[in-house]
Amino acid sequence: MLKQQQNLSGDEKAALQGFGRVTTDSPPVFDPGSAIEAASSFFTANGYVVLSACLDPVEIDHLNEFYDRTQEERPHAWGLRNDRKPHHQQQGLIFSQPLLDYPELDPYTQHRSSFPVVASIFGGETHVRFSEFNFREAPENAGIGAMNFHHDAVSADRFTRSPYMPCDWLCAIHYLTDVEPGTPVFCVVPKSNTYNTLKEAFEGLGEAYLEVPIYAAAGTCVLYDTAIFHTRLDGDGVRARRTWHQYYARGGWLPTDTRYVRPPTPVLTNWNLFPERLALHPDSKTKLFFSHWNTAQCEWVASGFADPIRESMPRGNQ
Ligand SMILES: [Fe+2]
Repeated sequence: MLKQQQNLSGDEKAALQGFGRVTTDSPPVFDPGSAIEAASSFFTANGYVVLSACLDPVEIDHLNEFYDRTQEERPHAWGLRNDRKPHHQQQGLIFSQPLLDYPELDPYTQHRSSFPVVASIFGGETHVRFSEFNFREAPENAGIGAMNFHHDAVSADRFTRSPYMPCDWLCAIHYLTDVEPGTPVFCVVPKSNTYNTLKEAFEGLGEAYLEVPIYAAAGTCVLYDTAIFHTRLDGDGVRARRTWHQYYARGGWLPTDTRYVRPPTPVLTNWNLFPERLALHPDSKTKLFFSHWNTAQCEWVASGFADPIRESMPRGNQ
């Protein structure tokens, strides 16, 4: 967890906001149709990878239409109106659990373009588990001055296990609108996933330390190890951005080079719910994919997926 900003020293604040070594070079981009192994190797070496044209124009239109439709139909689910979610006050809008009520999104959970690369990174399709799926939007006049470099969920054994890979979780961010200079942009520090703090990464990586903003067209996908330091750099405060975020975890018990056997990755959150049609899917492979249940999910399953139980949960309708 990040310390509260007001408790940080000047040096620590500077570290959170980056060291200003922002590259103007574009990162390499891989075609997920023809370069799965190369993309997977790049991820293993750098902690992230950029995949080109993962969504086709029909899918980009569908998902943007989904935003428009659900923001109109269910504004509260997006934190619109007067109840902007406190946990995303400065980060724009988020629809946290769209899968609950919209089976039209199911085909995206193992998308034909990015999923084979995800599977390759985790060591095969049977080792990939679903964690979370949400939609975010930095609308016009948002996405300014909000985010510091941070990592997402990490596991304690990542500094001691050998080998490090496969990682514990990875996130796939698909751009649903073009991201260009002036747009809020996702930015990573390559190879920073084995450092505890950004400052340690800066010192440890030396000349190799870089902050890499990823400008790319709608349909692009960025996969990143949740342990890598990343942020969203400010845009010009005018241009909007829409992104679909999906988190995956590693499943199964995995021997290492020592006697340590890695357990399946823990659950990512204590609130994320999987709907009955996915959690109890008749296809055993899909059921395994949706098998990483948290205790909130266990209680919801025990209730027979009862609506009052779901509605009692903080983001049950978001
Ligand atoms: Fe993050």
